[in-house]
Amino acid sequence: MEDKRLVLIADDDQSIRSLLTSFLESEGFGTIEAKSGRDVIPAITKTRPDVVIMDLRMPGMGGLDVLDQMKRMKMDDIPVLTMTAYGTSNVAIEAIQRGAYDYVTKPFELDDLLMTVKRTIDHRDLARRVKAVDETIRDPLDKIIGNTSAMQQVYKNIGRVARTDATVLVTGESGTGKELVAGAIHFNSNRRSGPYVKVPCASLTETLLESELFGHEAGSFTSAVKTRKGRFEMADKGTIFLDEIGEMSLNTQKKLLRVLQEREFERVGSNTPIKIDTRVIAATNRSLAHEVSEGRFREDLYYRLNVIAIDLPPLRDRMDDVPILVEHFLQIYRSDAPDNTPRISEEALEELMKYNWPGNVRELENSVHRAIILARDEVITPAHIVFTGAPGKSNGDASDGVADKVAAGMSLKDIVMETERKAIEAALHLANGNRSQAAKQLGIYRRMLYAKMNEYGIAES
Ligand SMILES: Nc1ncnc2c1ncn2[C@@H]1O[C@H](COP(=O)(O)OP(=O)(O)OP(=O)(O)O)[C@@H](O)[C@H]1O
Ligand SMILES: [Mg+2]
Repeated sequence: MEDKRLVLIADDDQSIRSLLTSFLESEGFGTIEAKSGRDVIPAITKTRPDVVIMDLRMPGMGGLDVLDQMKRMKMDDIPVLTMTAYGTSNVAIEAIQRGAYDYVTKPFELDDLLMTVKRTIDHRDLARRVKAVDETIRDPLDKIIGNTSAMQQVYKNIGRVARTDATVLVTGESGTGKELVAGAIHFNSNRRSGPYVKVPCASLTETLLESELFGHEAGSFTSAVKTRKGRFEMADKGTIFLDEIGEMSLNTQKKLLRVLQEREFERVGSNTPIKIDTRVIAATNRSLAHEVSEGRFREDLYYRLNVIAIDLPPLRDRMDDVPILVEHFLQIYRSDAPDNTPRISEEALEELMKYNWPGNVRELENSVHRAIILARDEVITPAHIVFTGAPGKSNGDASDGVADKVAAGMSLKDIVMETERKAIEAALHLANGNRSQAAKQLGIYRRMLYAKMNEYGIAES
């Protein structure tokens, strides 16, 4: 027998809560109540309900805020039905846009509500089954798309090294699929049932990276309050993936070298050696040979890592793969309209075949995704194609720019306004000046877009 389905009822109004509780229980559901917006997230964490019924207007933390937070906390696989007072459909629409599954207006018929709840749960079950099937049946190798001889060579290399315990260095420009390949090696190895642990070496400072990798004893540095296991230990009997290893400091490189040579290390702040059985896969979009010649990368570590190298070709060297990659991403991003895969016109495909793809497959993926959004349910034409270029080459990275602006003494308000203006200009550009499309892209109403354009003096082109 299946367990009772659990419904979380969130409303500050006691009478609504008891009404729904007794009704749903009589219909065979389990129920829990939350009497304020703040109680919702903890209740979800604790009980993992099948569906949440939530009033949008609650004092303190309102329903919309709860929806935002659920999204941030990756709880958006739990469907939410919102309740709103009759005549406030704009809030209800806003709620849907923020991720609510459906809404009912108060006052409601209990039978209608019951139907909505059942439909929502069915839908959720289906979505989960599809996801589970996807995750178990699909070999990560299947996700690597490409038939050209350059890619055939990559598959051969993966096949050759996967079942050995050899250290592998995966190289290639940004967006060529290094992370996919690293995953494919692990999941086709004898360690596949062991852990697969990723470490983004570039995004951590030296101290933090070392404590991430090797763990630390309490008190070994200022913010180390508790003793913690490092990623090498967590990856015992499995694989550790050191991403962007070219960014690692010379100090940390030295420690890593020792781990590779001796298969043991100590936690930061400890003298007790720890033995590990971990396979190492590293990736970089830099030329490590060049880094060695510049004195930024240790030569001995380079040779250790480079036992087996898999070099991924840039997309411009395997353009014959563009059509199947496009097809693949059309399938992936069609999920908004599950029963009709978006189509692409000959002309649009030609545009894609003419471009040189500095951002490689990642850029192609982004272009296809955007084109689907811009084209909505129509055929994708050249007007829907936007190229973003390689990451980091321009100063397009907003977050870095922001740090500079703060340092330069700009006020928060000015930074926000400038960002807002740029976002609006970008959206208008993307939409070729079509304002409804630009508004949709930004998730705001058209009227709001007009007001902002006015405020910032953005010309109506
Ligand atoms: N051959 C491929 N087939 C299908 N998808 C791919 C392929 N190569 C890359 N992708 C997709 O492109 C995106 C970027 O890939 P990935 O993160 O592996 O690149 P990367 O080489 O690690 O880039 P970076 O150096 O910027 O970290 C991912 O969404 C990935 O799924
Ligand atoms: Mg990567």
